[in-house]
Amino acid sequence: MYPPLVSCLSLSLIALQPVAAIWPAPQSFTNGSSVLYLHQNIEVTYNGAFVCWFSPSESPHHVCLEEGLNTEHFVYQQIPYTYGYVPYQLTSKEVVQAGVSRALAGIFNSQFVPWKLHKPNTQWEPDLSKGQNWLKTLQITQTSEDQPSTFKPLAGEVDESYNLTVSTEGDVKLAAVSSIGVLRGLETFTQLFYQHSAGTFWYTPYAPVSIQDAPKFQHRGVMLDTARHFFPVSDILRTIDAMAWNKMNRLHVHVTDSQSWPLVLPSMPEVSEKGAYHPSQTYSPADIDNIQKYGVARGVEVYFEIDMPGHIGVVSLSHPELIVAYNLQPYYWWCAQPPCGAFKLNNTAVDAFLEKLFDDLLPRLAPYTAYFHTGGDELNKNDSMLDEGIRSNSSEVLQPLLQKFIDLQHARVREAGLTPIVWEEIPLEWNVTMAPDTVVQSWLGGNSVKTLTGKGFKVIDSNYNFWYLDCGRGQWLNWANGAAFQLGYPFNDWCNPAKNWRLIYSHDPTANLTANEAALVLGGEVAVWSETIDAANLDTLLWPRASAAGEVLWSGRIDSQTGQNRSQMDAAPRLNEFRERMVLRGVRSSPVQMTFCTQGSPEECEYPA
Ligand SMILES: *[C@@H]1O[C@H](CO)[C@@H](O)[C@H](O)[C@H]1NC(C)=O
Ligand SMILES: *[C@@H]1O[C@H](CO)[C@@H](O)[C@H](O)[C@H]1NC(C)=O
Ligand SMILES: *[C@@H]1O[C@H](CO)[C@@H](O)[C@H](O)[C@H]1NC(C)=O
Ligand SMILES: *[C@@H]1O[C@H](CO)[C@@H](O)[C@H](O)[C@H]1NC(C)=O
Ligand SMILES: *[C@@H]1O[C@H](CO)[C@@H](O)[C@H](O)[C@H]1NC(C)=O
Ligand SMILES: *[C@@H]1O[C@H](CO)[C@@H](O)[C@H](O)[C@H]1NC(C)=O
Ligand SMILES: *[C@@H]1O[C@H](CO)[C@@H](O)[C@H](O)[C@H]1NC(C)=O
Ligand SMILES: *[C@@H]1O[C@H](CO)[C@@H](O)[C@H](O)[C@H]1NC(C)=O
Repeated sequence: MYPPLVSCLSLSLIALQPVAAIWPAPQSFTNGSSVLYLHQNIEVTYNGAFVCWFSPSESPHHVCLEEGLNTEHFVYQQIPYTYGYVPYQLTSKEVVQAGVSRALAGIFNSQFVPWKLHKPNTQWEPDLSKGQNWLKTLQITQTSEDQPSTFKPLAGEVDESYNLTVSTEGDVKLAAVSSIGVLRGLETFTQLFYQHSAGTFWYTPYAPVSIQDAPKFQHRGVMLDTARHFFPVSDILRTIDAMAWNKMNRLHVHVTDSQSWPLVLPSMPEVSEKGAYHPSQTYSPADIDNIQKYGVARGVEVYFEIDMPGHIGVVSLSHPELIVAYNLQPYYWWCAQPPCGAFKLNNTAVDAFLEKLFDDLLPRLAPYTAYFHTGGDELNKNDSMLDEGIRSNSSEVLQPLLQKFIDLQHARVREAGLTPIVWEEIPLEWNVTMAPDTVVQSWLGGNSVKTLTGKGFKVIDSNYNFWYLDCGRGQWLNWANGAAFQLGYPFNDWCNPAKNWRLIYSHDPTANLTANEAALVLGGEVAVWSETIDAANLDTLLWPRASAAGEVLWSGRIDSQTGQNRSQMDAAPRLNEFRERMVLRGVRSSPVQMTFCTQGSPEECEYPA
C-alpha cells in the first residue's frame, strides 16, 4: 500500500520509490523491496503440480478440480501458458487457464516501463548486472469446487476472495475458494510487474508480497446504453476486459429504448428490422451469446434490460398498435426526451407481444445470468390519456394497471429462472408491490437508497449525483434563436456538473444507512447513458472514472485498516499507475493527472491544506 506521508524526511525517499499500485486496493497488503524477475517459462500449476485435461471422449465436468480424485480418464499435463488462450468451454479449469494466459500476456505484452511514475534523470530500475532472482512457480489452489451458480451468480453466491503471496525465494501462491477468486488474484498478480527499459526483462520490486483480499460489495457494475448509440460487439468485449482488470463483475446492457432497438428477435424479426438504426447496428443471438460467454470467462456477468412500459416508443415502428405517444411533441408533456412512446397499459396485445418476446429472449440469456432488468423509469402518466383502453392520467386508475403489468412480466422473468430488477420509480413513485427478492436500481439520489432498503428491497446504487458518467458535458438538444436560446443558455445538461473521479470516489452507497439497511445494498453501477457517447469516446469517458467506483465497491469507501474514508491522496498515485496499465492493455483511458504530477512527489500536485 502506498505509505502515508509521515514526515518531511521521508518525502525524498518516497519520491524515488515505485508505488505499490494495486487497483482496487486489497483489503490487506504488505510488501518488501526485493526484486524478482518473471520468465515466460514460469511453472504454473492449478490444484497440485499438474492439471487435468479432459480426454476428448469424456463429457465435460469439474471432478478433477480436487486433488486425489479418480484420474483414470484424464491425461495429465502442466497448465500450458499460451498467449490469447480462449476457453473452449466454460469449466473451472478452462476459465482459470484463460485467466493465466491473460494475466501473463498483460505483463509480457504491455511493455510497461513506468518512467511516467518516476522523477526524470533518477535511477529507479533494478540493476540488471547484479544478476536475476527468478520467480519459479505460480501455484494456484482452488479450495472448493465451483457450482453452476459460480458462473451466473446472484449477488453473494460466488466467493471472490483470494490470498496471494510472493516469497523472496520466488514462489507465488494464489489461493481462492472459486475460479472467479482465482481470476481476481491473477489481476492483482499482473499489477506487481514492470518491464525493464533494457528490453526483455520483467520484474517486481515488491517481494515478499502478502495479500488477503475480498470484495466489500457483491455487485460492482457498469450500465451501458446501446440504444441512444449502438456499440459494436468489440467495444463491449473490450469494456468487459477493462471491467475484469478493475475486479468489476456486472455489465448491465440497457439494450433498447425509444430511440432504437438493436436486439434481433428471431421470433419477431420485424422489431429490429424496423427499429434498429441500420441493419449493421444490431446484435444477433450469436452476438449476445458471444458477449455473455466472454463475460463469464472473466467473472463479469452480463445481464440485459428491456426498459418498459416507458422508454419503448421504437416498437411503434413495427407494432404501432401497442404504443402510445410515439415521437409526440412537445415531448416534455409525454416523456423526458424525444422520441416518446410507451406501452398501452391495459392491452392484451401488449401482453401477447411480451410473452413472445420473453419466450424468445429469456431462455437464451438465462444460462449466463441470474438477472433480467425490466426497466420502469420515467413513465409519464399523460401517455395513458392517449390509450383508447384507458383515457386517464390519474394515479388511482393507472397504479392498479401498472401493478398488474409488473406482476405479469415478473412472473415470466421468474419462470425463466431469473430474478427481476427494476428502476426505483416502480416501488417509490408508483407504489407497486413486489416480492422481496426483487432488486431495485436507485438513481435519483436523496434518500432513495435508505427508503428502498427500509422497505426491505435489495438495492443497486447508481446515484446520478455521483455515478452518472454522461453528465456535465452539455446539451444534445438544439435551441432555436430567441426565447429557446435564452432558456437553454449556457446549454448545461440536466445533471451538470461532470463527475470527476474524485467525486465518484467520494460516494459511499451505504452512507447514512443503519447496519440492516446497509446489508441490503448489493453494490452499485456507474451509468453510461449514450446520447453523446459512442465507440469513439467510450473508453475516455468510462475509464478511469469507473475505476474509482470500482475501488469503492471492491475495497469499500472506508479503509478497514484505518477506519477512515479512503483518501484521494492515497488513490491518485495508484490510479495514475493503473491508468497506464489500462492504456497499454488496449483501453484508451483518460489521464488522471499531467505527467509533471505522475513523475513528481505527491505534494507537488496537492491543493495546500
Ligand atoms: C513496499 O513498497 C514501497 C514502494 O511502493 C516501498 O517504498 C517500501 O519500502 C516497501 N516496503 C518494504 C517493507 O520494503
Ligand atoms: C486466506 O487467508 C486467510 C487467513 O489466513 C484464511 O482465513 C483464508 O481461508 C484464506 N483463503 C483461502 C482461499 O485460502
Ligand atoms: C401532462 O400534459 C399537460 C398538458 O396537457 C401538461 O401541462 C403536464 O405538465 C403534463 N404532465 C407531465 C407529468 O408531463
Ligand atoms: C382494462 O381493460 C379491461 C378489459 O378490456 C376493461 O374491462 C377495464 O375497464 C380496463 N381498465 C381500465 C382502467 O380502463
Ligand atoms: C393530467 O392531464 C391534465 C389535463 O391535460 C393536466 O392538467 C394534468 O397536469 C395532468 N396530470 C399529470 C399528472 O400529468
Ligand atoms: C404512492 O404513495 C405515496 C405515499 O402514500 C402517494 O403520495 C402517491 O400518490 C402514491 N402514488 C401512486 C401512483 O399511487
Ligand atoms: C447523508 O446525509 C447527509 C446529511 O443529511 C446528506 O447531506 C448526504 O447527501 C447523505 N448522503 C447520501 C449518500 O445519501
Ligand atoms: C466519511 O466521509 C463522509 C462524507 O464526507 C462523512 O460523513 C463520514 O463521517 C466520513 N467517515 C469517516 C469514518 O471519516
